[in-house]
Parts: sequence; C-alpha cells; structure tokens
Amino acid sequence: MLICKNLKKSYSDGNNRINILSNINLNISSGETVSITGASGSGKSTLLHILSTLDKADSGEIELDGHLVSDLEDNNLSKIRLTKIGFIYQFHHLIKELSVKENISLPLRIAKKSNTDIEKIVNEVIDQVDMTKRKNFQLDKLSGGERQRVAIARSIVNNPKIIFADEPTGNLDKNNANNIFALLNDLVKNNKSSLIMATHDLEIALKLNRNFKIDNGQLKDI
Ligand SMILES: Nc1ncnc2c1ncn2[C@@H]1O[C@H](COP(=O)(O)OP(=O)(O)OP(=O)(O)O)[C@@H](O)[C@H]1O
Ligand SMILES: [Mg+2]
Repeated sequence: MLICKNLKKSYSDGNNRINILSNINLNISSGETVSITGASGSGKSTLLHILSTLDKADSGEIELDGHLVSDLEDNNLSKIRLTKIGFIYQFHHLIKELSVKENISLPLRIAKKSNTDIEKIVNEVIDQVDMTKRKNFQLDKLSGGERQRVAIARSIVNNPKIIFADEPTGNLDKNNANNIFALLNDLVKNNKSSLIMATHDLEIALKLNRNFKIDNGQLKDI
C-alpha cells in the first residue's frame, strides 16, 4: 500500500542544515495500522506530511497504492490526495466559518460529486461519528472533542485507502482520547483502510498493529 525508501529531509537554520529525517524506510500493507511516536520535534509531523504528499523530501522514493508519488507534480498529486488519502491534521485545519456538514462535504465538492451523492455520504459519515444533532453547528461552536470528530469524518468521507492522523487525540482528556481513538480505529477497520498515526500517547500507540518511534532521524521498532 505504501512503500518508502531512503527518505531524507533537512531544514536550514540560516547557517547549517539540520537533519530531521536521515534515512527512513517503511513498507505498509493494505489495512495495516501503524503508530509513530518520538519526542516533540523528532519529525513525526514532517514524516506524515511527506508520506501523504503534502510536503517533499530532499531525496528518497514514496510509492502509494502503486503510484510513485515522490516523482509526481502537483496537479497529479491533488487527484491522488482526493481519491486515496485522508488526513487528520495536528491542528485541525477545519474551516471555522463553515458548519459541520459543510466542512465534511468539502473533499466531495472538490472531487465534483453530485449534490445527491454528497448529501447521502455526508449524512452517513456524520452519523458514524455521532454528530447528527450538531450537523448544522458552525465549527467554532463545538468542543475540542467534537471538532476532532468532524476532522475524522472529513478524513474518511472520500473512502481513502490510507489515513494519516497527526496526534488525533492530542488535545483531549483521557476519556475523550480513548473514545476518539476507538472511533477512528473502528472506521479504519470497517473501510479496510491503512492508518498511520503520530501520537505522544504510548498506550494508544500500542493498540495499533506496528509501532515505531523516530529517534535521531531514524525509524526504530518499539
Ligand atoms: N518549515 C520548517 N522550517 C524549518 N524547520 C522546520 C520546519 N518544519 C519543521 N521544522 C523543524 O523540524 C523539526 C521536526 O518538526 P515536526 O513538526 O515534524 O516535529 P514533531 O515530531 O511532529 O513534534 P510534535 O510532537 O511537537 O508535534 C522541528 O525541530 C521543527 O522545528
Ligand atoms: Mg507534530
């Protein structure tokens, strides 16, 4: 489903280049769930952004569902993002002026689905994340946990083959974090999607099939 080889990424601090990812190799099968832990600043978000085509590595290859995405230009990448990838960002990236329903509809509108299809799919997904009663609420009227449900709903609405989740339970209390994780895990299992999740929460990380941490720019088994 996802193969990455010899991925490298560094940033310049003005004078020197700082290596964030030194040599990352990873092979994830269809339906497999993977956790990535590591200290703050170790490169978890950087890796997720690169694997999900939102950012470019300095070198290395990424193959996603048979497509060599590391070689593709932006216009071809956007099609792959819309049809194959779901992303739950560390800081939501939801649109606060829009309602729950409108936020979740966005990927389908961009993919130019018909209004009838959108209505049907979005209502189903809203029901799956238990937000039906709040579907017309504007985003900034929701709690943190509810916003996270909306972010999850938006990431699965296009039925992606692979979902990247960056700290999906990061800003929630223990109880809510466990609920949100259980919800995400169930949806991933039902859709037979793969999941790559960055988290600080080791207890949640260990519930996934394979567990890695980023240490010194390298991916290590834990
Ligand atoms: N655009 C950028 N320019 C320069 N440095 C960057 C840039 N983006 C990230 N970095 C640096 O790369 C390092 C890794 O950042 P990243 O966001 O991937 O960490 P993280 O493991 O996700 O941390 P956290 O657990 O706090 O979310 C950090 O030191 C950060 O300052
Ligand atoms: Mg991060």
